[in-house]
Amino acid sequence: MDLNTSFSKLSREEKIQWLSVSGESQKLLTDALNQNPAISGIVDQLSENTITHYTLPLGVAPNVLINGKSYHLPLVTEESSVVAAIAKAAKFWFAFGGFQTQVLGTEKKGQVHFFWKGNKELLHQKFEPLKDFILLRVNSLTKEMRKRGGGITSIQLLDKTHLLTNYFQLDVSFETADAMGANFINSCLEEMSKALKQFFSCDLELDAELLEVNMAILSNYTSGCRVLAKVMCAVDAINAYGESLETPLLAEKLVQAVQIAQVSTERAVTHNKGIFNGIDALALATGNDWRAIEACGHAYASRSGTYASLTKASIVEQTFILELEIPLSVGTVGGITNLHPLAKIALEILQKPTAPELMQLMAVSGLAANFSALLALTTSGIQKGHMKMHLSNILLQLNATEEQSKLALTFFKDKTVSFTEVKKFLSSNS
Ligand code: MEV
Repeated sequence: MDLNTSFSKLSREEKIQWLSVSGESQKLLTDALNQNPAISGIVDQLSENTITHYTLPLGVAPNVLINGKSYHLPLVTEESSVVAAIAKAAKFWFAFGGFQTQVLGTEKKGQVHFFWKGNKELLHQKFEPLKDFILLRVNSLTKEMRKRGGGITSIQLLDKTHLLTNYFQLDVSFETADAMGANFINSCLEEMSKALKQFFSCDLELDAELLEVNMAILSNYTSGCRVLAKVMCAVDAINAYGESLETPLLAEKLVQAVQIAQVSTERAVTHNKGIFNGIDALALATGNDWRAIEACGHAYASRSGTYASLTKASIVEQTFILELEIPLSVGTVGGITNLHPLAKIALEILQKPTAPELMQLMAVSGLAANFSALLALTTSGIQKGHMKMHLSNILLQLNATEEQSKLALTFFKDKTVSFTEVKKFLSSNS
């Protein structure tokens, strides 16, 4: 294929051939596709230049008690120990009434970013009629959403000229019911930007030449779409558990561990990454946009001006409390949530939650992952748990037999696992 031939125009077989991978790899690429035509047929169309489908494990953390109701969380992750960690935390907290959650808001936002070189006062004066004009223009676009209880809840004119010369925003708030709402919001904003231009060219006092619309786009910083998840129990209960792990005063150690993540960026990034292990896995399983969720979460973690822990821990009157407050913009309708056959099944496992319900489940998944990570870190360290999974992965890679794997699990129980050591072990036990 020369540079003038478009890769996208090639058939799948031609694309694979063009990549010059081995015959064995070509077969794998094709076999992976043919495994399940019911899934392939849909997944194929989600992206461009698809040559095959990339498979990841879908696991379940069972019996996660949330506000008195038990859920089984479907989790997609390639990282060993994440599902086990969430399941472990769920089991621990089940005995203390589980997780408590609360939705703190469901507002989504978007902006029309524009430059106005004219009189500022005049712009502010014209804002009320401009707003009415804009709302009328998007009326048909918002009709269906309004029927579902959503729509546009406010439009503000924000003067940002102190940050950038002549820069203003139309700052728009939305409610999007059970949809994440990206398409709805972007369609409304693009229509608003056209309406803005039209309003300026029709108004005799405004000089349309002095207006320049730069872009219209939703904001993934959904700080008004927030949820709180919490666990609590008697300090003594945590400390008794700590004693069983030869770690006295575990409750105090856990609180200190979170305090460290509140003052040290180095630790906060890893701490929050552990929270997103749980959140992303549920987002991916349910077909939600985990990049948007992550970007927003990290910005929220920096809201004080310094990047810090997303969880808080405290001991209040002999009660240990761990909580996570986080913005989570998710959907249970629209996007690929009802398109990807496995995302649909994930939502079915969750008993078809509304978007606010899914926000709560996701926050719990993050909090559970964080609790287990903190527990491991402040007691035995994380390597102990990780090593068993690491060993299984290496054994799988080296095609170990069932017998060899059994022997290896016993042999490496009290030893450090590495690829070389496992390879050595297998060759002496072949
Ligand atoms: C590993 O994926 C996540 C942890 O590093 C999180 C943490 O350190 O809190 C275990």
